[in-house]
Amino acid sequence: IRPLRVGIAGLGTVGASVAGILKRQENALAARCGRPIRVTAVSARDRNRDRGIDLSGFAWFDDPVALAASSEIDCLVELIGGSDGPAKQAVETALFAGKHVVTANKALLAAHGIALAELAESKGAALAFEASSAGGIPVVKTLREALSGNNVSRLYGILNGTCNYILSRMELEGLTFEACLKDAQRLGYAEADPTFDVEGFDTAHKLAILTSLAFGTRIDAEAIHVEGISSITPLDLKMADELGYRIKLLGVAERTKTGIEQRVHPTMVPKSSAIAQVMGVTNAVTIDADAVREITLVGPGAGGGPTASAVIADIADVARGTAGQPFGMPVARLEQPTRAPMQRHEGG
Ligand code: NDP
Ligand code: HSE
Repeated sequence: IRPLRVGIAGLGTVGASVAGILKRQENALAARCGRPIRVTAVSARDRNRDRGIDLSGFAWFDDPVALAASSEIDCLVELIGGSDGPAKQAVETALFAGKHVVTANKALLAAHGIALAELAESKGAALAFEASSAGGIPVVKTLREALSGNNVSRLYGILNGTCNYILSRMELEGLTFEACLKDAQRLGYAEADPTFDVEGFDTAHKLAILTSLAFGTRIDAEAIHVEGISSITPLDLKMADELGYRIKLLGVAERTKTGIEQRVHPTMVPKSSAIAQVMGVTNAVTIDADAVREITLVGPGAGGGPTASAVIADIADVARGTAGQPFGMPVARLEQPTRAPMQRHEGG
């Protein structure tokens, strides 16, 4: 049986964890997928950095685009990050050559997801991105597959682990914003540029992807109203607490009479609500839909292990040949969304 030959571009928090788990779970994955999954090649900037994994059996590429083009791989796993630059070039190169791509890169997908899906479709390659939204929570598969029989009316939730971690610790432990952000970076939760987390852009990228999956529309990241948490003070959290509320950074997408509204902003949620109980790096996504009514998925939203778990689920789908269409339907069928004007909202 022919193994699936995987090339991992990016060996940081997520990439090193993916390589480690693929090694540890080698036999179980081969049994589950009906064929072995073998990492054959890797790429990162610094060849000499200790990543806690044995790289001796893998071909090394300084250039991720060369890795993507290499005849040693069938599937590129892109874990570099960034909406443009080497990540985009590597993904395009792989897809153009008809190789499958698995990525956790929401910035790339929010900016170019539809064009990349079109390229994948035209080449008969898979483009899989479970890890791009809400870390270890299988929300992409849920929207794309498990809820196929539903009309979704609204989707909202906590989509950024770093922000929820910061807000939780500021509130419960009285720590400063800066100290909490530093810890989130140390723990591998934050983006390479944490501005993306704290200014709400990372939540917006994820929301853009999930909105597309939920409503069958083309990604429209520019339509999103975005506010982050960098101006939230301990006093804000204290006052919210005294009034019986917590402050959460929410991403919300809903179908209104005038079109689809997408927004990201800090929101006062009643302390008695389910979403207020979601603390630390945990994410939660609630989906309102006609048949299932309401479901909420909760789980770890960032970090090496949870994100690698989602990446590996996609690699396993590629190995089995069950990766399916990136957005659950042919790209040409995705509607151009009508943007709803922003309304005033209270409590999310
Ligand atoms: P890291 O910054 O930890 O790792 C990035 C990796 O990419 C590093 O190995 C780095 O090399 C490599 N790299 C960066 N620039 C280049 C370049 N120009 N050429 C070659 N290699 C390069 O990022 P994460 O692992 O945290 O994130 C990876 C992706 O996963 C991002 O898209 C992120 O948004 C996404 N993601 C991250 C999550 C998390 O919890 N961390 C959760 C969900 C998604 P070197 O090590 O040598 O510096
Ligand atoms: N920086 C992101 C977060 C990583 O904190 O949620 C997971 O996408």
